[in-house]
Amino acid sequence: MNRMMPPADREEFVRQSCHGEVPLDARLEPWMLECMGDQRLFDRVAEFGSPLNVIHTEPMEQNVDALRQVASERKIDLKIFFARKSNKCLSFVDQAKRSGIGVDTASENEVRQCLDRGIDPGQLICTAAVKSEALLQRCIDRQICIVVDNLDELNRIVSIAKTVERSASIALRLGGFHHDGRKLPTRFGFDVGRDATLCERLSDLPITVLGVHFHLDGYDAGQRVAALTESLDWINRLRRGGHSPVFIDMGGGFPMSYLQSGQQWKRFWDEHRSALLGQRSEVTYRNHGLGLNVHRGEVIGEPNSYPYSQSPTKGDWLRSILDFPVAGVSIAERIASSNVELRCEPGRCLMDGCGMTVASVEFRKQDAEGHWLIGLSMNRTQCRTSSDDFLVDPILLPCNRSDHRSKSGYLVGAYCTESELLSLRHLVFPHGVRCGDLVVFPNTAGYLMHFLESRSHQFPLAKNYLWQSDSLDPIDHQPDHACTA
Ligand SMILES: Cc1ncc(COP(=O)(O)O)c(C=O)c1O
Repeated sequence: MNRMMPPADREEFVRQSCHGEVPLDARLEPWMLECMGDQRLFDRVAEFGSPLNVIHTEPMEQNVDALRQVASERKIDLKIFFARKSNKCLSFVDQAKRSGIGVDTASENEVRQCLDRGIDPGQLICTAAVKSEALLQRCIDRQICIVVDNLDELNRIVSIAKTVERSASIALRLGGFHHDGRKLPTRFGFDVGRDATLCERLSDLPITVLGVHFHLDGYDAGQRVAALTESLDWINRLRRGGHSPVFIDMGGGFPMSYLQSGQQWKRFWDEHRSALLGQRSEVTYRNHGLGLNVHRGEVIGEPNSYPYSQSPTKGDWLRSILDFPVAGVSIAERIASSNVELRCEPGRCLMDGCGMTVASVEFRKQDAEGHWLIGLSMNRTQCRTSSDDFLVDPILLPCNRSDHRSKSGYLVGAYCTESELLSLRHLVFPHGVRCGDLVVFPNTAGYLMHFLESRSHQFPLAKNYLWQSDSLDPIDHQPDHACTA
């Protein structure tokens, strides 16, 4: 690729070697285009192994700014905590520190590593779903705010705090909010109805209640409005009980889009439905439904997939929540007049544009039914979340060899099961695909790299390479990080 090309031409150039049978073009960052046009990428995959997670921290700063901008326009105090579970690389912890945001931690190792990177304990919050004695002890010792999920956890915190003769800083995790005439189901938190008297039972304990917290499943802005409204009631209830809460934490779940075009997204699902009904050739391996099924000649079910294209996203989504009027007063005004800070814990949307996963092609072959399969040095836990598939077109970077075989097929990985497909979608390679080519999965920093990665079959974990500094991320040097074979 010519480095002098304008970005739009570069994008077209990198996309020309691979696309889905029904295309889903990824949104790409300038650094990704630069990286994909540089021989250094081939050299580093050869050096550090395949797959290689390639990261860049700059887009994180832009994503933070976009959220801050919305809050400052509405004159509310917003404190952002990066949900570290979305990506384990320590470069993002360092970037969080540089950007002046906090870090949301979900385990003892996450807490310890953040402290080791010099993060101030006041900039940490612990939202671990299950908290060990050691984790609670560390949080209390370092005065890290603990988001308390249940009574047993609370009692344990109280008992440790009494033993060490310190007050524990806590926030109450709330759940079971009411929206659209129904109660939102959750396994997390104290129930806003059943546990309504909790505030009165928190007096005379060695705890300081700093605020209330929730994290909702999904991306529904209306549900956040409902949860914020009920959380404001809890702030008042706590104040009446003699506490001085200073924040409401609305958790994460800020939506983002991976695709350039909403039309492509719609067309993909239309074509997939037609394929399931036998009205066109299949677009997924053996017509995998991606959550849909055919029943009596009709397509039923819901896509089991992240909404890879959606609107609004990030700041626009936050704006829609803050501007929503409840009994004539916007959520932003309600928060401001209640004198509380709004906190949030985005993971995925801060990682937007911050990484890609790169793997090398090892073979091309045909399966028993004649489908072409392209084998990559990678397994499917290395680019996966709970969605059935990562519905974003990979990019093929050709090596210099000349053996162009196979013009279309499916990407398969290294685990020994029949279901080990790296992408369920039928992909087209207009110029063929060779052994030694690189396949790039774009925009994988949020969850896709690490959430499900496993060392099954004794494969080493993928290395994490920071493009801007041409070095491995410090996580790969952690003594307890099983990254080698
Ligand atoms: C408590 C909590 N906070 C924040 C997040 C981050 O969510 P997201 O990455 O969707 O923004 C999660 C994700 O599961 C969570 O459980």
